[in-house]
Amino acid sequence: MGCNEIRAGIVGVGTYVPERVLTNADMENMVATSDEWIRARTGIRERRVASAEEATSDLALVASRRALEDAGVSAGELDVIIVATNTPDMLFPATACLLQDKLGAAKAGAFDLLAGCTGFIYGIAVGAQFITAGTARTVLVVGAETLSRIVNWKDRSTCVLFGDGAGAVVLRRVPGDRGVISSVLRSDGGGGHLLHMPAGGSRQPASVETITANMHYVHMNGREVFKFAVRVMGEAADEVLHQAGMGREDIDFFIPHQANIRIIEHAARKIGLPMERVAVNVDRYGNTSTASIPLALEEALQRGKIADGDNVIMIGFGAGLTWGGLLVKWYDYKNR
Ligand SMILES: CC(C)(COP(=O)(O)OP(=O)(O)OC[C@H]1O[C@@H](n2cnc3c(N)ncnc32)[C@H](O)[C@@H]1OP(=O)(O)O)[C@@H](O)C(=O)NCCC(=O)NCCS
Repeated sequence: MGCNEIRAGIVGVGTYVPERVLTNADMENMVATSDEWIRARTGIRERRVASAEEATSDLALVASRRALEDAGVSAGELDVIIVATNTPDMLFPATACLLQDKLGAAKAGAFDLLAGCTGFIYGIAVGAQFITAGTARTVLVVGAETLSRIVNWKDRSTCVLFGDGAGAVVLRRVPGDRGVISSVLRSDGGGGHLLHMPAGGSRQPASVETITANMHYVHMNGREVFKFAVRVMGEAADEVLHQAGMGREDIDFFIPHQANIRIIEHAARKIGLPMERVAVNVDRYGNTSTASIPLALEEALQRGKIADGDNVIMIGFGAGLTWGGLLVKWYDYKNR
C-alpha cells in the first residue's frame, strides 16, 4: 500500500431487531412443519417479526441512530446514506430518503441499493468508494428488512426461513493499513427467476389477478439457490483474497450471510476456518437478508471475537442473482 492511499473503514456499528419472537413451535401452528425439520435443514430456531406499525425505515432508523452514537458522529455530518433493502417502505421514494428525513441528515445524499441479500456487501463497497475518491467524508450504510411483509405465511418452504431486522455502519477514512482492503461484486441475472417477487413492478403491475395468484410474495427454488450459494461462497472468498494478495491462512474471522447453517458450515470448511472464527446468528434471527451481516458483525464485536488489525472477510449471496465479498482489516475505533 502506498503511504498516501486513502482507505475507508467501519467506525461505528448499530443494529435493531423487532421485539416479537416467532419460534419454530409458533410456525408449527401456522404451516405443516416441525421444529425438528426447520432446525435440521436450516439451523433456525426463531426469527423476529416487525410490529404492524414498523416499516423498514423504522428499523433502519433505530439501527442508524445506534451506529451514529457508536461512531460519535452526528446525523448532520453524514454526506451519503445508502440503504440496502429488498423490502423498501414503498416502491418510491427511496427508503434512504425517508431515513434521511427521520435522522435529520440535512446535507446527505440518499439512495437505495437493490442487490438481494448481498446488498450490505454492495453497500459497503459503494460507500467506501466515495471516501477513497475524496467525494464524501462520512457515509452511512444500512441493511434493513421487513421480509415478514413479503413472505407467504402459507408457504412452508419459504415462510420458516426469513426474519426482520436492521444493521448500520458508519464509514470514514481510517489510518494506516486498516479498512476495506478489497471487494468483489458479482451477478448472474440469468438466475433471477430462482428467487424473486414476480409482481408489483412494471412487468406485472399490481392487479386483482396478481394478488389472487400470490405474485406479491417471495418465490424461491430453494434447492437451486442452495447449490448456487455453496458454489459462490468459496469462489468469492478466493477472489477477495486474491485481490488483496492474501491466502486463506490470513483470514482471522469470517462473517457469512446468514441463510442456512448448512451453507455457512460448508463455506467455513471450504475456507478452512473452525466454527469459533465464523459468525452465526441464523439460529436466532433466520435469514434477515441485508441485515444479517451487520447483525452478525455487531455480535462478534460484543463477544470480543474481532481485534485491531484482524483480517475480517464478509461474504454474501442472494437474489439477482448476486454475490460478493469484502476483506476488511479491522480498525479498533473504540480504542483509537
Ligand atoms: C429451503 C431449504 C431449507 C430446503 O431444504 P432442502 O433440504 O433443500 O429441502 P427440499 O427443498 O429438498 O425439500 C425436502 C422436502 O421438505 C419439504 N419441506 C419444505 N419446507 C418444509 C418445511 N418448512 N417443513 C417441513 N417440510 C418442508 C418439501 O416439501 C420437500 O418435500 P418433498 O420431498 O415431499 O417434496 C434449502 O433448500 C435452502 O436453504 N436453500 C437455500 C435458500 C436460501 O438460502 N435462500 C435465501 C438466499 S439469500
